Amino acid sequence: IRRIGVFTSGGDAPGMNACIRAVVRTAIAHDLEVVGIRRGYAGMIEGDFVEMDGRSVSNILQLGGTILKSARSKAFMTPEGRAKAAEQLRKAGIDALVAIGGDGTFRGAAVFYEEHHIPIVGCPGTIDNDLFGTDETIGFDTAMNTAIQNIDRIRDTADAHDRLFLVEVMGRDAGFIALNCGIGSGAEMVLIPETFTDIEEIKERILSLMSAQSRSSIVVVAEGDEHGGATQIAQDLREDPAFAKIDLRVCILGHTQRGGSPTARDRVLASRLGSAAVEALLQGHTNVMVGVVNGEIKLTPLKHVYSRKKTIDYELLKLTQLLG
Ligand code: F6P
Repeated sequence: IRRIGVFTSGGDAPGMNACIRAVVRTAIAHDLEVVGIRRGYAGMIEGDFVEMDGRSVSNILQLGGTILKSARSKAFMTPEGRAKAAEQLRKAGIDALVAIGGDGTFRGAAVFYEEHHIPIVGCPGTIDNDLFGTDETIGFDTAMNTAIQNIDRIRDTADAHDRLFLVEVMGRDAGFIALNCGIGSGAEMVLIPETFTDIEEIKERILSLMSAQSRSSIVVVAEGDEHGGATQIAQDLREDPAFAKIDLRVCILGHTQRGGSPTARDRVLASRLGSAAVEALLQGHTNVMVGVVNGEIKLTPLKHVYSRKKTIDYELLKLTQLLG
């Protein structure tokens, strides 16, 4: 390997820049050349490349977003799109890749490797934490902290008005953010896609909370929850006469969770993983993702990353019920 291409793809996550920096600087330490590929697979197809050196990644460690930009490419889902991308890489002399992204990114990477045999190693970058093969993904810790800070603020106003708040957090079809934020913010209830709670039971629990405490309650709802998110649940509650006297509000935290300066934990994780990805390529690994499992760097085949389900910690779920 002489020349590595690095790119970020899918939803951005805080810490992606720290990861890019680690890839570039580790590669340079091994006398490799590094090319930044802008806008993920979309930029790969168009040959949107930029030469990178140690200084091009100065002062980015602390920034949210991604200096290489990100995209979700439909064209890369076609064999023609992938052939075009491989052609662009060959023209630019790029002989190995580091992909920073989530499961969509790795699905694409695995097919691309099978078809075009350009060595590729993935770094888990997504706020959702839904990737098998790593205890935490880059961006998860920052997203949780952002959400918790916001829920703390909601608690102040909820308490001042004795209101019920349904707060929706991201996570796609996984409940990792919701579960941890629920515990960290002292939410009275947490609704996640991994478990189903009947709407009548939800209503009963909320009614008993509100009447017993006669003060604010916060329900954290994962966006992928089977009831259709916080807005739908609020509508169900409002249609029930038993909720006529309850002052209810919805707050969707949305993309606030994707931005901001990464936490110390995400910076360290991203730096470790970016560096490990380059080392893995140099050791001849391909079609794998680098992760941290029980504190140690671990390589997992890409196909396991997106086909195996990472399970939530059911002890944490019990804790939300016990403490809320
Ligand atoms: O995968 C990260 C994520 O933020 C999910 O939590 C969310 O469902 C999705 O991306 C939102 O995607 P977009 O930014 O394309 O609306």
